[in-house]
Amino acid sequence: MDIKNLISQMTLEEKAGMLNGLDFWHLKGVERLGIPSVMVSDGPHGLRKQASEADHLGLNEAVPATAFPTAAGLACSFDRELVGEVGQALGDICQQEDVSVILGPGCNIKRSPLCGRNFEYFSEDPFLAGEIAAAHINGVQSKNVGTSLKHFAMNNQEHRRMSTSVVCDERTKREIYLTGFEKAVKQGKPWTVMCSYNKIGGVYSSENRRLLTDILCDEWGFDGYTMTDWGACCDHVAGIKAGLNLCMPSLGDDADRQVVEAVRAGKLDEKVVDEAVEKILNIVYRYVENRKPDPDFSLGQQHHLARKVARESAVLLKNNGVLPLKSAGSIAFIGAFAEKPRFQGGGSSHINAYEITSALDAVRSVAQVRYAKGFEAESNDVDPALMAEAVALAKESDVAVLFLGLPDTFESEGFDRTHMRMPDCQLELIDQVTKVNKHVVVVLHNGSPIEMPWVDKVQAILEMYLGGQAVGGAAVDLLFGAVSPCGKLAETFPMRLEDNPSYLFFPGDGDTVEYREGLYVGYRWYDAKHMAVRYPFGYGLSYTTFEYSNLKLSAETLAPDGTLTVCVDVKNTGNVGAKEIVELYVHSAHEGISRPVQELKGFEKVYLAPGETKTVAMTLDRRAFSYYNTDIADWYAEDGAYEIRVGASSRDIRLCACVTLTGAKPLPVRVTGDSTLGDILTIPGAMQVLAPVLAPMQQTFGGGEAGASDSSMGESGDQMMQAMIKYMPLHAMKSFSNGAFTDQMMQGIIQALNDMQK
Ligand code: BGC
Repeated sequence: MDIKNLISQMTLEEKAGMLNGLDFWHLKGVERLGIPSVMVSDGPHGLRKQASEADHLGLNEAVPATAFPTAAGLACSFDRELVGEVGQALGDICQQEDVSVILGPGCNIKRSPLCGRNFEYFSEDPFLAGEIAAAHINGVQSKNVGTSLKHFAMNNQEHRRMSTSVVCDERTKREIYLTGFEKAVKQGKPWTVMCSYNKIGGVYSSENRRLLTDILCDEWGFDGYTMTDWGACCDHVAGIKAGLNLCMPSLGDDADRQVVEAVRAGKLDEKVVDEAVEKILNIVYRYVENRKPDPDFSLGQQHHLARKVARESAVLLKNNGVLPLKSAGSIAFIGAFAEKPRFQGGGSSHINAYEITSALDAVRSVAQVRYAKGFEAESNDVDPALMAEAVALAKESDVAVLFLGLPDTFESEGFDRTHMRMPDCQLELIDQVTKVNKHVVVVLHNGSPIEMPWVDKVQAILEMYLGGQAVGGAAVDLLFGAVSPCGKLAETFPMRLEDNPSYLFFPGDGDTVEYREGLYVGYRWYDAKHMAVRYPFGYGLSYTTFEYSNLKLSAETLAPDGTLTVCVDVKNTGNVGAKEIVELYVHSAHEGISRPVQELKGFEKVYLAPGETKTVAMTLDRRAFSYYNTDIADWYAEDGAYEIRVGASSRDIRLCACVTLTGAKPLPVRVTGDSTLGDILTIPGAMQVLAPVLAPMQQTFGGGEAGASDSSMGESGDQMMQAMIKYMPLHAMKSFSNGAFTDQMMQGIIQALNDMQK
């Protein structure tokens, strides 16, 4: 389709109409020109296509579809290929249901474990979030259906999500909150991006030119269309000027009129409207010209895939040897979630699951178990009769498997949690059951971390997250050892809520939330503070053991445009075949710039038969070593030594090696009277320019870089002088030169030093 030609035939009214939805889920078409009206629908871990009554809160029925594990679980698979398979399955069903774009994935960072929507987000770590989001996008889009990467950006809480304004420094934005989106945009090339409800620095994301145009399009090369979150459009014309292309759902005819009037009044350039329409039509036609209305799949096949994905995403948190269970012996399944698993979260991602497998259904073909409900799933209060029945059953059984988790009333889109506790009735159940049975296994169904004061009382804990419609089958597969658990945590489980870095600043005051913890989100904080955590980032057990050896780097040095390949041998030293996730962290210890102790920069997942060894390779480029330098508004890695750490979790580093970075362009030092001599002396050639200043200093202070010392304090006095001079601002030299160093001389030196760096 010749889109430009098509646009040239459109009236201004028709073009304005394209920038504002038709209804809740459709874009407008233009019948006269044959432009079709296409549909967008929610995801991201299953299709939520509403047939009739539309809402964005997941209230009204949608067509039956497959519910895969939600993002919180998916990320724990650390498996790009598997997430890609989920994406393909989503693409298939979108083709079947004629949905042009599925609204997701969500790539927001889990700043606080309290965010009600954490189950829809991948990780506290931007590298992992970005890699998994890109895999999801590539999977869906391989079926010629678009994704909408959301919620761009900094929608890290539900509290006052439509009005709150985020205050955050630029470096933190770039390194923590934007990196995942950047990766997803560059590696996944999403067809659309959905902006967040909130404001950033007082400007709504939907009107934020810096975000939507400067960063997303100009810096990252995004070429699809941007849309609002549902109801996030405040000033339609201001949005379009800033780089917003589509407002959803429809604002009605008034919004079209506003655009037309703004163009006619010369307040909005028609070229801007044309460009927005072009972006939308490019995507509309990419979809309609590649329709495949009869994709080759069945919901039955997708159910199998959902079970596999849930298995590969689950994380074994504790195992004193009770797992895997033996089919013989008396086993009790206790807890309402054994019968009716909580497998997805509430809100716009809520899917009408086509089939649900509970653990009770699945276990029938594996072992005989007896069941007691124990508590009402949605309740916080103890039901004495259910409790008594459960405790009696546990007492008579060899093993008691408790199916626990958070109810919908505890976590959902639309509100945040206020604590990390499980319902009282479940805590009481653990307490009572562990008093009568010494082999207690807990299977968890939750979208985000909980506090586990009971951890030492139970023998095993299997974290299923919100594991999708086949979660019960997956739990049984893992409990009985049909496969070994192989997921690892994509977020830290802190000991208690108060340990979390955002604790004092979440969810903010009124309509302002300040991200005062800065870069130190998740493990970056716990590691820097050497804090004990319940379970660290990247942690997960297996039914086998792995040995790491032979860490090798492809080179000892890394130049700016080079890459470094890191290879490590991993051996399965146990008796069962299983997958291992190998994690790579970079540690930098350079003076003068605050950096997290270590940051995830690579991961791979491999299957190993018993006794088998494989070499795992991961590639790093300069960016993996860089921080965001706000002076140059770019990523920067200083020359020098960096440590490559390879291990089984962020707190289980097995091997380390060093690489030296070379060839960095020196950072320009913007010299003013306030610049310190130490900073100035990092400029090559600065010594000559400063010589006239340093000479009198030599007499006043002695020592330092300016000359030899005759200090009576000997070597330590020398060092003190050096340190003092290093942090002495240039203007202070005027006071120590007996009038020889004048203001005029200082200005000349400043000029010369700045000119030298041009
Ligand atoms: C959510 C989006 C969702 C949209 C449409 C909004 O409330 O924030 O994630 O895609 O509704 O349902």
